[in-house]
Amino acid sequence: MGTVETVQITFEEEGFAPFQAALGAELHDALDGAHSPVFFGCKTGNCGTCLVEICSADFALLPSPSVDEADLLESLAPDRPNVRLACQVKAVSDLKLKYLN
Ligand code: FES
Repeated sequence: MGTVETVQITFEEEGFAPFQAALGAELHDALDGAHSPVFFGCKTGNCGTCLVEICSADFALLPSPSVDEADLLESLAPDRPNVRLACQVKAVSDLKLKYLN
């Protein structure tokens, strides 16, 4: 078996240690298994509970949000450019997160 590639998930909140997630994993799966400040509700992109701000260098590496996610982000955080719904993001690169709710 080959080595599983991983990315590092880091939190801006104090008291939450960085951890390694499998490359390409659903971020909500990775965060559920870790000591994380991020809470989830629906996990389908509808409730906004999982709103996070992502460090801009990492944010630029993520695929664009879907139209539905972009609509919700616009209503939840119209003045913040680097926000995503954590339940709609895959761990495709190192990510530094700040939970906003
Ligand atoms: S958990 Fe509901 S939008 Fe992400």
